[in-house]
Amino acid sequence: MRKVCLIIGAGAGIGMATARRFAKEGDYVCLVRRSNQKGLDKSIHELTTNGYEATGFIVDVTVPDDLEALVEKIETEIGPIDTAVYNVGAQIGDRYLDSTTLKVFELGWKLGTFGLFRLAKTLLPCMVKRSTGSLLVTGATASVRGNGGQHSHAATMASRRMLCQSLNAEFAPKGIHIAHIVIDGLIDAPDTLGKMLGAEAFEELKQRKGYEKNGLLVPDQIADSYFHLARQHPSAWTHELDLRPHSALPWWNHEKLDL
Ligand SMILES: NC(=O)c1ccc[n+]([C@@H]2O[C@H](COP(=O)([O-])OP(=O)(O)OC[C@H]3O[C@@H](n4cnc5c(N)ncnc54)[C@H](OP(=O)(O)O)[C@@H]3O)[C@@H](O)[C@H]2O)c1
Repeated sequence: MRKVCLIIGAGAGIGMATARRFAKEGDYVCLVRRSNQKGLDKSIHELTTNGYEATGFIVDVTVPDDLEALVEKIETEIGPIDTAVYNVGAQIGDRYLDSTTLKVFELGWKLGTFGLFRLAKTLLPCMVKRSTGSLLVTGATASVRGNGGQHSHAATMASRRMLCQSLNAEFAPKGIHIAHIVIDGLIDAPDTLGKMLGAEAFEELKQRKGYEKNGLLVPDQIADSYFHLARQHPSAWTHELDLRPHSALPWWNHEKLDL
């Protein structure tokens, strides 16, 4: 039976790169994004013209019931979901406490944690019936470290990480592989970082750190790790993986003192 890979949060960065990687291996890929129909159509066009099977959906994971309905629709109409990637970010830009409203904080939580919880509630019982499946969850530096202006982002990304550990405790013994990937650096991702910075600053960043300098994470390279995680043998599962450019300072180090 064909494998179905569901990617929730499928912009041109990690989302589409992961779709490409799983599609290349024969998976039917389902791409989900919040608002950009044109971008979604472009991704589906690229995949299908390369001979891969792919469908796209516009769904906002913060809307009650829509995510649950989508999972049920895919399971019924396309096939059993073998891999799900929860890749939705919760970045709202650096904000001091006084500009982090209750609404903003709550939105961060809905994107970062509650959406994943809802996905797990709907999908994991289906995977348990089949005794197989992988749930890959994207994290960030903020999953492991709080920082100035990160009240909402760090709180929800750390919470996402703890939810993954709790899910792992319950579901790994049932044959479901839960993996959390700490992305500890900036990604060459036009739909997220690119939009946040604006076209000019993003291009300047790419000139300074990207391309052959390998100072930005390349989505296709991240996708290789995602695919590897999903296909690991159950005798040697990774629960948490961290990825960063070779030249980036890991989250636990500080700039060296000039002694
Ligand atoms: N970009 C970075 O530098 C960076 C660094 C560290 C960690 N990360 C993590 O990487 C993940 C994102 O990967 P990426 O940056 O490469 O992005 P991406 O895969 O290019 O795109 C992510 C997509 O998520 C969609 N999305 C946002 N909110 C959504 C919602 N409420 N419902 C459904 N879809 C939603 C957006 O769709 P629309 O465009 O249609 O709104 C966006 O295009 C996040 O978990 C983030 O925390 C990113």
